[in-house]
Amino acid sequence: MEIEKYRQADHNINPIYLKRWSSRAFSKKSVEQEKLNSIFEAARWAPSAANWQPWRFVYAQTEADRGNFLSFINENNVVWCKNAPVLVAIISKTTRNEEGDPNITHAFDTGTAWGYLTLEATRQGLITHGMGGFDRKKAKEVLQVPEEYEVQAIFALGYYDPNVELPEHLEKREKPSDRNPIDTFVFQGEFK
Ligand SMILES: Cc1cc2nc3c(=O)[nH]c(=O)nc-3n(C[C@H](O)[C@H](O)[C@H](O)COP(=O)(O)O)c2cc1C
Repeated sequence: MEIEKYRQADHNINPIYLKRWSSRAFSKKSVEQEKLNSIFEAARWAPSAANWQPWRFVYAQTEADRGNFLSFINENNVVWCKNAPVLVAIISKTTRNEEGDPNITHAFDTGTAWGYLTLEATRQGLITHGMGGFDRKKAKEVLQVPEEYEVQAIFALGYYDPNVELPEHLEKREKPSDRNPIDTFVFQGEFK
């Protein structure tokens, strides 16, 4: 994939940010345990409020576990993510102590961890594709997630295979997307 054809940064950044994109063309090749450990290790070092580290991950690699995930992922995502060798649930702990007081930054901090993880996956030669399209209630039940946790998103992880056959409407979207320039979302002094 020639990323430069689709993405150019306006300012100097590490090219890894451009290289990460959400393909749906997953090879069935399995992911080495060492690489899995590395991506979760990257998540481990994310910052979080009071260092509460509210992120949790449940991953599925076996046929049975992947089947469980496919039971709560929306059909429009199952179409492509069924090929991915690893499916992961991104979960956050909504409380910050034994008394059950809320951690108001649980989702924010868990999102940061996912960001770290996905860049490390790119560095390891893997692809990730996040999904919000799944049944949250069912995911919680199937994965036996305790009450005080929320399933934020699911992602597919694996190797890229440009020769994978995808339905036409998805094949058309198989290219890195662009972004709004920074002056549309960065304001000095006050919100504009
Ligand atoms: C929280 C979240 C939920 C998403 N949900 C879906 C989804 O349900 N199905 C899908 O095909 N892509 C989903 N995506 C992928 C986004 O559409 C994609 O990240 C976005 O278009 C930017 O493209 P890029 O990741 O290739 O840079 C999701 C991404 C995130 C971060």
